[in-house]
Amino acid sequence: MPEKAHLIAGLLATLTIATFFLSTVLVELFGSHEAVATVKSLIVLPGLFILVPAIAATGGSGFYLSKSRQGRLVDAKKRRMPFIAANGLLVLIPCAMFLNRWAVAGEFDTAFYTVQGLELLAGAVNLTLMGLNIRDGVKMSGRFRAVPTSAR
Ligand code: HEM
Repeated sequence: MPEKAHLIAGLLATLTIATFFLSTVLVELFGSHEAVATVKSLIVLPGLFILVPAIAATGGSGFYLSKSRQGRLVDAKKRRMPFIAANGLLVLIPCAMFLNRWAVAGEFDTAFYTVQGLELLAGAVNLTLMGLNIRDGVKMSGRFRAVPTSAR
């Protein structure tokens, strides 16, 4: 059961950040300022209210699972988690709040695009770290391990 909860929370957290990232890039490239403001507000609500519990649940269930596991893969996952959490709490959340406030006020100035760039960078870093945690998690769970022909 904790494995299932960890899998669902981990995938949800990763998909949420991927959705923030993709919708931001697409609306910045092809959308009006009004559309950018809508996306920015959806990222804050409901976005952050999905992301924060999902990251907390992933970290909590991961550390719980790791009590009975040892080795290089689990150590690497443990080391990445504080960066993922700090990046989320200290960079992504404040960026999302400022960008939403500025977009609603129609302030698309240098500050807006600087913070937007920072948010995309932090999102890309987190997606990479989360992708590595998924890769190592799937290796540990053996979900896609090949079944030897003799056992078929
Ligand atoms: C955002 C961060 C993380 C993501 C996206 C993530 C994702 C995943 C995924 C997709 C699996 C495979 C589950 C399955 O195939 O059933 C997994 C397994 C696992 N994860 Fe994480 N994980 C994260 C953080 C952590 C942390 C911080 C720890 C603890 C140190 C951890 C410990 C584990 C363990 C022990 C397993 C193997 C569970 C089993 O034996 O089935 N994970 N993780």
